[in-house]
Amino acid sequence: MRLYINIDHVATVRQARRTDEPDPVRAAVLAELGGADGITVHLREDRRHIGDRDVRLLAETVRTGLNLEVAATAAMVEIAVEVAPMQATLVPENREEVTTEGGLDLASASVRAGVGRALGRLAAAGTRTALFIDPDLESVERSAALGANAVELHTGEYAGARGDAARERGLTRLKDAAAVGHGLGLAVHAGHGLTYENVAPVAALPCVEELNIGHSVVSRAVLVGMERAVREMRSLVLESPAWVATPGEWVPPIGY
Ligand code: PXP
Repeated sequence: MRLYINIDHVATVRQARRTDEPDPVRAAVLAELGGADGITVHLREDRRHIGDRDVRLLAETVRTGLNLEVAATAAMVEIAVEVAPMQATLVPENREEVTTEGGLDLASASVRAGVGRALGRLAAAGTRTALFIDPDLESVERSAALGANAVELHTGEYAGARGDAARERGLTRLKDAAAVGHGLGLAVHAGHGLTYENVAPVAALPCVEELNIGHSVVSRAVLVGMERAVREMRSLVLESPAWVATPGEWVPPIGY
């Protein structure tokens, strides 16, 4: 299991005053010292937190791996190609939203066409690709058909569930989507809304190999420091039973 730390909200604090602190580049160094396996940033079209300068500097300074989240538009994909991160995750974007609200709508032919073009361009540049999708089997299958290297399953429904039954349902959806993705040859990531309190069951899911966690870690970092916040999240993630891929172990979920 790899733990990627999303440092967007370090930039959110900076942008609250449109000044030069805190610097996400410094936060990335501390996150790595705390044991992050990679750093994630979302360069939004409106540049509300992370900016072009951050991405450029992070590409030069991150020593683990940089995962750049962008919308699947020609302009944003060109920036990703230029920056050449280790991985690009394509996400839907809506200017009105507070945060990314749902996964890519791959049922839409025009979204599929745009994502297909973006994946082709990124693959030609040698960038590993992931698609942020809701944990439903159709979206997983469409991601595989489009040729992505990985899917990142949206954990928001699980994270926001009220009550044990709803949480279990959310977890089962994630588990089934992860198993199908793994069976189709996709690497499976997960993220959104994960916290110190709810991360353990997701970290223990078979077939999931990477978590992306931002807001909760940055929130704790404000109080205890980035290095400690990452170390504490990392130990929760690593305490979950390890899952190691072995060929042929995939068991399709019921009804698949
Ligand atoms: N994954 C994706 C694709 C995201 O857009 C975000 C939020 O920027 C995250 C993971 C992290 O979510 P959170 O900040 O709730 O941990």
